[in-house]
Amino acid sequence: MASVSGCIKYSMFIFNFLFWLCGIVILALAIWVRVGNDSQEIFSSENLGSSPYAAVDILIAVGAIIMILGFLGCCGAIKESRCMLLLFFIGLLLILLLQVAAGILGAVFKSESDRIVNETLYESAKLLSTTVESDKQFQEAVIVFQKEFKCCGLVNGAVDWGNNFQQYTGLCECLDTQRSCTYYNGKHVYKEPCISYIKDFLEKKLIIVIGIAFGLAVIEILGLVFSMVLYCQIGNK
Ligand SMILES: *[C@@H]1O[C@H](CO)[C@@H](O)[C@H](O)[C@H]1NC(C)=O
Repeated sequence: MASVSGCIKYSMFIFNFLFWLCGIVILALAIWVRVGNDSQEIFSSENLGSSPYAAVDILIAVGAIIMILGFLGCCGAIKESRCMLLLFFIGLLLILLLQVAAGILGAVFKSESDRIVNETLYESAKLLSTTVESDKQFQEAVIVFQKEFKCCGLVNGAVDWGNNFQQYTGLCECLDTQRSCTYYNGKHVYKEPCISYIKDFLEKKLIIVIGIAFGLAVIEILGLVFSMVLYCQIGNK
C-alpha cells in the first residue's frame, strides 16, 4: 500500500496557503479601492473610458478565484480530502485551458490588434488639435509621453498639434542634440512622431504580460501534477 507523500502534501499545503493569503490581499485591496471615496476622484480625473472600474472588478474576480483555489488546495492537502483536491484540480485545469485559449486567440488576432492600435492612434492624433476641454487631459498625457520619449505629435509630428502648438509652451522643444530635430513655426522641435515609440511601448508591455502568463502556466501545471499525485495516493491508502 502506498502512503501519502509528506513532501507533496506539505508543499501543496504551504504553497496553497500562500496563494490563499495572496488572494485575500488582492481581494481586500481591490474592494478597498472599489468602495473608497478617494478612488472616485482618481478614476474620474483619468480618462479611463466608460467603465473605469473594469480593471478593479477584474482584480476582485481574480482575487476571489485565487482565494478559493488556494483554500481548496491547502485544505484538501492537509485534510487529505479527495473531493477538495478534485475541485482544485478541475478549477486549475479550467484556468489553464482559458489561458491557452486566450493565448491562441491573441496570436491569431495579432495582426488585427496591430491594425486597431494603428487606427486608434491615427484617430487620437485628431484630438491634439482640438480645443475641446475634455481632450485637454489626453493632450497633457501626450505631452508627458513626448518629453519622456523625445518625440513630437502622434503620427505626423508637430503638425498634429494644429493651432494648439502655440498654446503649450515648450511643446516638443528639442533639447537633445542626439535626436533629429526640425524647425516648426520658428521653434526647434523633435522631428519624429511618437507613433513608433507608443507601439514599442505597447509591445514591451505585451511581452511582460506573456512572460507572466507563461510563469503562471508553469506554476499551474505543478499544481495540477501535485494535486493529481496526492489524489491518487489518498485513493490507494
Ligand atoms: C495605420 O493607419 C493609417 C491610417 O488609417 C494608414 O495610412 C497606415 O498605413 C497604417 N499603418 C500601418 C503600419 O498599418
